[in-house]
Amino acid sequence: MLSEGLKRVQREVDSVFDAFLPVPGDTRARLVEAMRYAAIGGGKRVRPLLLVSTAEMFGVDRDAALRAGCAVEAIHVYSLIHDDLPCMDDDDLRHGKPTVHKVFDEATAVLAGDSLHALAFEILSDLGTSNDPFTRAELIATLAMASGKDGMAGGQMMDMVAEDADYDLHTITRLQQLKTGALLAASVEMGAILGKVPPEGRAQLRAYARDIGLAFQIADDLLDEEGDEAKAGKALRKDGEQGKATFVSLMGADKAREQAHALVEQAVAHLAGHGEEADMLRALARFIVERDR
Ligand code: IPE
Ligand code: IPE
Ligand code: MG
Ligand code: MG
Ligand code: MG
Repeated sequence: MLSEGLKRVQREVDSVFDAFLPVPGDTRARLVEAMRYAAIGGGKRVRPLLLVSTAEMFGVDRDAALRAGCAVEAIHVYSLIHDDLPCMDDDDLRHGKPTVHKVFDEATAVLAGDSLHALAFEILSDLGTSNDPFTRAELIATLAMASGKDGMAGGQMMDMVAEDADYDLHTITRLQQLKTGALLAASVEMGAILGKVPPEGRAQLRAYARDIGLAFQIADDLLDEEGDEAKAGKALRKDGEQGKATFVSLMGADKAREQAHALVEQAVAHLAGHGEEADMLRALARFIVERDR
């Protein structure tokens, strides 16, 4: 079920990006080529699948959910382009191919990230995502919060100074919740928003999302330490090399793995109030720690 769900959403996300990113016939072509290079193909599309699967639980139209999923994915792709830049992690490989700044150049990579960031909100503010202005505003606010200083970018800042700062477990947890957890949590939240679930009805879904968010980054850090580069499609063994404080560096790989599995079981337990309509979310939670890329 899960691999079919992932494959379907991968195809759908590619076609939404393709439709949103026609290459213009002027000197901006290079920018849009770079956006297409980063956004089409490659990623697992965990965030769109989370969003679409949550939305489906509440009977949301698939095309609307998919567009919102692409908005989150656009932020994610932009964050990866910038994360790979020489001034950040300085990586040459992503999704098994050279990073954007290697194929194009640094300025183009910065602008492609900027433009994907803007595209996310362009998609959310469009009537095709929801004809209800309150829903659109709530989607936009949720993704904005999850992307900026109180979300992904804030976590990236904490991560950038992790080499010098003496982070304890509590601070690492906060870092990861922002850097990675925020966009995953926003995906679930936005599915519920499209489903018109009121904030007070989202508590269990939020608890689920918080747990998988943390588990997801622990899995990424474990992959960095123990994974296979060919499968991951990116350079590994970077965190240790760059002296990054992670769950793995703080607790050791075995404890970190235990923690990730415990978080997944806890996440699944938060869905106990739901029936088989939540099976995709359960399967996704397990996939998050069992994945090899
Ligand atoms: C990698 O995210 C970066 C993190 C936030 C840990 P993913 O593992 O979701 O990346 P892709 O999009 O599938 O390559
Ligand atoms: C990046 O975390 C998280 C982002 C917000 C992009 P990492 O630096 O660990 O991601 P990878 O390992 O390069 O994919
Ligand atoms: Mg990084
Ligand atoms: Mg990185
Ligand atoms: Mg990593």
